[in-house]
Amino acid sequence: MSDVLYFNGRFTTTDERVIGVEDRGFQFGDAVYEVFKFVARKPVFLVDHYRRMEHGLKAIEIRSPWDQAAFVRAMGELLERTEFDDGIVYIQVSRGETPRAHFYPDDMEPTVVAYSRRWTFPDATRKELGVKVITAPDLRWKSCDVKSVNLLANALAKKKADRAGAGEALLIGDGIVREGASSSFFAVLGGHIVTHPLDEHILPGVVRDRTIELALGARVRVDERPLREDELFGLEEAFITSTTLGVMPVAEIDARVIGNSRRGEITTTLQRLMDEAEAREVSA
Ligand code: PDD
Repeated sequence: MSDVLYFNGRFTTTDERVIGVEDRGFQFGDAVYEVFKFVARKPVFLVDHYRRMEHGLKAIEIRSPWDQAAFVRAMGELLERTEFDDGIVYIQVSRGETPRAHFYPDDMEPTVVAYSRRWTFPDATRKELGVKVITAPDLRWKSCDVKSVNLLANALAKKKADRAGAGEALLIGDGIVREGASSSFFAVLGGHIVTHPLDEHILPGVVRDRTIELALGARVRVDERPLREDELFGLEEAFITSTTLGVMPVAEIDARVIGNSRRGEITTTLQRLMDEAEAREVSA
């Protein structure tokens, strides 16, 4: 089935082939992307996604195609044209199309696509059971704060997880637990939360930042510090966060059970607080 597609300022459907073979996003991975969630056709944390995309575009010197108001308008129209209520929107902004050469001309016209997709978000059972994860070496480039479309290392790690019967791979770099292949990682030890600090080793997850805010509001201490791989096996709780998963308990790491094999208290509280925060967003 085709979906509504926004392409360079006009609306079409995903049946139309819009990307040229010399688009730099296609040939060089010279592009950034975003994924946001919508419920009842209302976007969740939309401005946070916009800000992160602007950060990425600036970091790799792609001209931003829209200011915040134009972005919010375009995404609003995309959701109005969408034929279902709940899903995700994938956005990609590439440097644009030009005869292939590693160096690029200045002042290129970016290629912009955005389309909505039906998505089934985790139900109560999945949110209680959580996911199994494996560890895998972090083979990504060194600017992971930029949400670039160069996801080969992430995709290979995710496939490895899938083959091991797990749902996510925790990426380990220099003995430090960075984040999941497509999620942020949180550990609970000594009754407080530990998560990697914001730097070039991780993506500043939109749900990560909200989770920290909610935890602090609930008087749970949050240490943003590197967690060593060898600390993984004494954890009281662990969870991952992302736009598509929300707050998701980690049940096992490399086949070792976390905590007392049941969803932990802090994880459960944060799931509830996140559900409430999302509900406030979409009813505003
Ligand atoms: N992935 N870290 C990585 C490497 C990610 O790819 C993602 C999201 C996150 C979580 O970010 P957020 O909370 O903003 O969704 C962390 C998206 C969902 C994806 O690639 O589909």
